[in-house]
Amino acid sequence: MTARIIDGKAFAANLRARVATHAAAFAAAAGRPAGLAVVLVGEDAASSVYVRSKGKATREAGMASFEHRLSTDVSQDDLIARVEQLNADPAVDGILVQLPLPKHLDSDAVLLTIDPDKDVDGFHPVNAGRLATGLPGMVPCTPYGCLLLLRDVLGDLSGMDAVVVGRSNIVGKPMAALLTAESCTVTIAHSRTRDLADHVRRADIVVAAVGRANFVPGDWIKPGATVIDVGINRTDAGLVGDVDFASAKEVAGAITPVPGGVGPMTIACLLRNTLVAAYRRAG
Ligand code: GUN
Repeated sequence: MTARIIDGKAFAANLRARVATHAAAFAAAAGRPAGLAVVLVGEDAASSVYVRSKGKATREAGMASFEHRLSTDVSQDDLIARVEQLNADPAVDGILVQLPLPKHLDSDAVLLTIDPDKDVDGFHPVNAGRLATGLPGMVPCTPYGCLLLLRDVLGDLSGMDAVVVGRSNIVGKPMAALLTAESCTVTIAHSRTRDLADHVRRADIVVAAVGRANFVPGDWIKPGATVIDVGINRTDAGLVGDVDFASAKEVAGAITPVPGGVGPMTIACLLRNTLVAAYRRAG
């Protein structure tokens, strides 16, 4: 069997178009566009590219983009003051502080300063708590994008066995919380998991988010399973995921490619979160 290749790029383009439609309605009703502020500290080349593409996508969706570029040696107090200023700014619905921050800055303290209702990354512990307890909040973009793809492929996820490989706060843990809320039976596997292959072999849904190239081979995949690959690993052979795509696609029922799978969903979900934040703030 050859798997269905899940076209995240097309799904994300469709989601962005739907967000743009709702963003236009918001702007008409509120008399102002929804606004996303992105804070970038320093000159990191990759972060700079991400921030530019987030700004472009925000404008294309009919929302206002506010870019705050601070110098590499900005003090913790000045960075926190900038976040507090954005918290208080009525034109700003979403705030994203691009990570990683330079080493002299305390990322946790900065993220704690962001108003949870403007935390479009969903990284604030208040939003992690809301997700864990089933309250409405801001859901981290990448796992939410994975969930949208899974629902599109599988419909109702209820009762399915899911394995999430990786336990990061940004992907693994929120992914597991989202799948639990969908009534999946969820296993979180990680670097200390014994018999990882056996866990993955039982799963109807595999989400790989470990950051190791080709870590999950095809012979771990249950025939017909749906495989979501969050990994983006630069290798001599180019960009590859955490799943060995060539062998996994011969066994899986559906699988995301890298690139063109989960990646494009992250920005689309960021735009969606910004609009959700704008509507909630407008009451
Ligand atoms: N750096 C790389 N990806 C992300 C992201 O999704 N959010 C933030 N804040 N920083 C990042």
